[in-house]
Amino acid sequence: MSDNEEKKEIRVWCDGCYDMVHFGHANSLRQAKALGHKLIVGVHTDEEIKKHKGPPVFTQEERYKMVRGIKWVDDVVEGAPYVTTLETLDKYNCDFCVHGDDITMTADGVDTYQIVKDADRYKEVSRTEGISTTDLVGRMLLLTKNHFRQGEKEYAIEKEGSSNLGQDHSARSPWTGCSQFLPTTQKIIQFSDGKSPKPDDKIVYVAGAFDLFHVGHLDFLEQARKHGDYLIVGLHTDPVVNKYKGSNYPIMNIHERVLSVLACKYVNEVVIGAPYSVTEELVRHFKVGVVCHGQTELPMENGVHDPYAVPKMMGKFISIDSGNTMTTEKIVERIIKHRIEFEERNSKKEKKEIEAYEAMTKAKQNEKAG
Ligand code: CTP
Ligand code: C5P
Repeated sequence: MSDNEEKKEIRVWCDGCYDMVHFGHANSLRQAKALGHKLIVGVHTDEEIKKHKGPPVFTQEERYKMVRGIKWVDDVVEGAPYVTTLETLDKYNCDFCVHGDDITMTADGVDTYQIVKDADRYKEVSRTEGISTTDLVGRMLLLTKNHFRQGEKEYAIEKEGSSNLGQDHSARSPWTGCSQFLPTTQKIIQFSDGKSPKPDDKIVYVAGAFDLFHVGHLDFLEQARKHGDYLIVGLHTDPVVNKYKGSNYPIMNIHERVLSVLACKYVNEVVIGAPYSVTEELVRHFKVGVVCHGQTELPMENGVHDPYAVPKMMGKFISIDSGNTMTTEKIVERIIKHRIEFEERNSKKEKKEIEAYEAMTKAKQNEKAG
């Protein structure tokens, strides 16, 4: 290999809707980044998505911001075209395009990556099984709790024979009709930056549900991180969140929430199952310099307990105004308001995918036979 070849910076292109961005999207971007040096991500406009697939849950501004917040992303191209062309790759100096091993089609059923595939400027990464927007929407609409991870109770639910899928099974896409996400230590290692704080680092600690990780969380964490050098996020367990939020909250279980938060570029470390109250022991253990909370209501146990009483007493508490009023509940409200449109969108998408999958399988069989 010549010096020139060795020094060449490989620029990777990814594009998508990134609507209700979750750790499946983040994992595809992580794998894409590993194929080169710089990762450029094109995000489609609301208009384009509406035309090809149906209305998105999040606005383009929200989606651009969420993708920018993912730690493997170097640059975001706003309003990238739905069909990926060689002109787009060249315009942003990208060597090739990366996509998950599912199929994306235009409204007319054309593979959006056919052009780059034909030009041999396309690489595939494996889609993360067990997580999809479709499934999350299903959990919200049907108010299921089967995704909770809470030991004994979870076992009881599974023993009763109920499915963990919160949606109708009539049309199940071979790609997005997911089964259960199986968390592994390997996945956590891949998402974690693996760095301990330096001896002089000021440690910032925040805690909460961080359910359906959204722009409000992102803006809050950006502000919190500015109060120190190393940010630790404590995640409450599913039963704890359910106790103060009620209904079928959290929508994402603790394993899912861990990965969503770890994918955020402001986060250094996550406590998996943090105590509801910030204790003196926790502050000492993690050498916490400051504890932050946003403007959202404090989750009160029986309406009387302040989980930040200890850090407040220690003079270590800061209240942050993220300037963003998004909440997990608002997302669920948006989905419920547009439920008919989403249900139509999902069943149309799944039907299209089943047809494409069957056609692909048939073509492969014919190839083998011939
Ligand atoms: N992706 C993935 N694993 C998932 C979900 C998405 O690897 N569980 C990848 C897709 O393969 C694609 C990228 O994330 O490379 C962006 O996907 P996007 O266009 O936003 O669509 P999906 O999330 O696949 O679609 P939907 O919202 O309809 O579920
Ligand atoms: O509600 P949840 O427990 O997920 O919130 C986690 C943290 O993010 C809390 O400190 C909350 O105040 C903050 N937050 C914020 N702005 C939002 C949403 C959440 O500051 N829009």
